[in-house]
Order: sequence, then C-alpha cells, then structure tokens
Amino acid sequence: MGEKADIKAAIEHIIDPSNQKSLKANDAIRFIDLSDDKKVSLILGVYKIDDDTKKSLNRSIAKIIKLDLGFEGLKITFEPLKKVGSIADQEKGIIYIGVASGKGGVGKSTVAANLAVALNRIGKKTALIDADIYGSSIPNLLDLPILLPAADEDQKIIPFVAFEIEVMATEFFLKDDQPLMWRGPMLGKMLNHFFYDVKWHPDTEFIVVDLPPGTGDVAMDIQKIIPACEMIVVTTPHPSAANIAMKAGFAARQLEHNILGVIENMHAYEINKEKHFIFGQGGGKTVADKLGVQLLAEIPIAQPEVHKGIYEMHEDIGVIYLGLANKLSKILQINQKKQIEQPI
Ligand SMILES: Nc1ncnc2c1ncn2[C@@H]1O[C@H](COP(=O)(O)OP(=O)(O)O)[C@@H](O)[C@H]1O
Ligand SMILES: [Mg+2]
Repeated sequence: MGEKADIKAAIEHIIDPSNQKSLKANDAIRFIDLSDDKKVSLILGVYKIDDDTKKSLNRSIAKIIKLDLGFEGLKITFEPLKKVGSIADQEKGIIYIGVASGKGGVGKSTVAANLAVALNRIGKKTALIDADIYGSSIPNLLDLPILLPAADEDQKIIPFVAFEIEVMATEFFLKDDQPLMWRGPMLGKMLNHFFYDVKWHPDTEFIVVDLPPGTGDVAMDIQKIIPACEMIVVTTPHPSAANIAMKAGFAARQLEHNILGVIENMHAYEINKEKHFIFGQGGGKTVADKLGVQLLAEIPIAQPEVHKGIYEMHEDIGVIYLGLANKLSKILQINQKKQIEQPI
C-alpha cells in the first residue's frame, strides 16, 4: 500500500498538457497497480485523449517511475477525465452500458446478455463483458465453452462469439480452484485488459457490462476501473430487493456513472394473460422514482423456450427485449447528440 501512495505522491504534481492542470487537481489518478516484477500499471483520466497528451504524460511519468523510483516498467491506460454523461470511449465512440443490481439472483446477467443480443438484433453492433467476478455466468448463459482466448500479433485479446455478439468474461481466465486470487491486483489488471486490450469488431457501437452485484468493496472498485458507463439497475418487484437496488444506483451515481433507468425483472407470472405477482409488486417503479429515472421495462417470469439463457425473437420476452433495445438506442443517440452540441 505504501508503495502505491509513494507513486501517487511522486507523480500527482505532473501537469496534464491538455488542460494545464495537475493530475491531482484533475483527480486523474484512478488506479495504481504493482506487479511482482516491479512494473507499474496506471489508469489516468485525461482532459483530452490525443497523441501529444499521451506522449507528454508517458514521458514525464516514466521518468519519475523508472529513473527516480527505480521501477522496471510502466503501462498507462488513458481514459476520459469527465465521466458524467460522457461518451465512454472517445477514441472509438463506443458506449458502455453497465448492468448493476443490489444483490445477486435478480436476473442481472440474464438481462445483460439478452439486452446485448437484442441491441445486436436491431442492427447496433454490440459486445458483452462479464465483469462479475463473484458469479461469472455469462459463458454458461450463452453456452460458450470455458477456453483461454487467443491474442493477436499486437497482444490484443480476441473475444469469443455467441448469438452473433462478441463476448469477454473473467471466467475464461479463471482456473476452477483459484477464484480468490481475483481480489486485489489481479482484478485490476484483468479488467484493465477487458476494457482496453480486446480486439472488438471495428463497428462496435455498444458494450454491455455485467457488473458484480451490490455496493461492497470489489463491486465499487470495478465501477471505478471501468470507463464511464450508462447504467441500468435491475431489480425484482419485491420491496426489499428494491431498497438495496436503490443503494446500488446511488453508489454508481456517486462514481459519476450516468443512470439510464431501471428494469424490473420477474415482474409477474402470466397464465392466459392474467398476471400473478408472485414476487410482490412495485419494486421497479419505486427504484426508478427514487433515482429520478425511467422504468425502462418490466420483464415477466418465464424461462427461454429454445436456448438456455437467451430468448428468441418470437417469444414474448424476446419481443420485450427488442423494444428495450430500441428504446435504449434512441435515448443514447439523443444523449450523444447533446454531448456533441455542448462540449465539456
Ligand atoms: N424473467 C425471468 N424469468 C424466469 N427466470 C429468470 C428470469 N430472469 C432470470 N431468471 C433466472 O433466475 C436465475 C438468476 O438469474 P441471473 O441472470 O443469473 O441473475 P444474477 O446475474 O442477478 O445473479 C437464473 O436461473 C435465471 O435463469
Ligand atoms: Mg450474474
């Protein structure tokens, strides 16, 4: 811990040339990681991501890290400084959609996977990242085997493809017997790769991210590491689920992610068009009202008919996901336009 604090103290006076403020004033140092072989990884927020800024910061930080402090290597990942409502990956114009929940078991991964597939089905090239280190389930939902992904000649990771979407998951890199090593340094390093070192299809518009549930340390650390996300909060109708989902929403907002809206999953069980509210009622609306955002969709209770985790387009829930994808892509387009008209 001490070493990280030393690194921070040694570099925070450096000026970001794109807005002439120090890294400290910009609150730019988002993440510091040290490897056993004395290499330093940093995630830095910069005002403007361009080659001059990157070159200048790389040079001045490397001087301190390597010459003054004696480390052997340095890798800096740059991301936009301003998180609120920003277009996440400015260089490529990719928008990240984070799917969060207050607790596990509410259908967060199911929603993330089906939303990604639905966005792709309506013609928006979409990828999916499973960043839930507690309960990685995306490969299983999509019927993907657990294999180590390949890398190309530039060391970019090549994602797997299922239901025509590209997928990256922590589980691909985990051996069965060592889930705990994900905490701490491994975690930061792995996620860093997911967000910056994957060779996504060049037309990718959206990347849906299945986040860990809750507001604990690990969940929050991950939300700090990821780029600016448009967040969706998933809850079930029950008041106790809603209460904790709300907390997750407020926590995400505190980390400057924009909250798009709420999805109530397991809304009701329908028999002959008659709804049975077996998990209670009103949770989604309560969370949306408290967060001041819209209730984007209510998804009934039903298992997919054809596949393990993905609803087909002819199934009722498949249709609901297509509607949700349409709604979201419209909202995101409007947000993006506003962003361009009012540059920060
Ligand atoms: N709308 C739904 N109707 C019926 N079962 C569902 C629905 N959504 C999720 N499930 C089931 O609930 C369980 C938990 O879902 P999952 O997506 O893994 O939750 P989480 O990621 O929040 O832990 C899974 O078995 C999933 O198939
Ligand atoms: Mg899950």
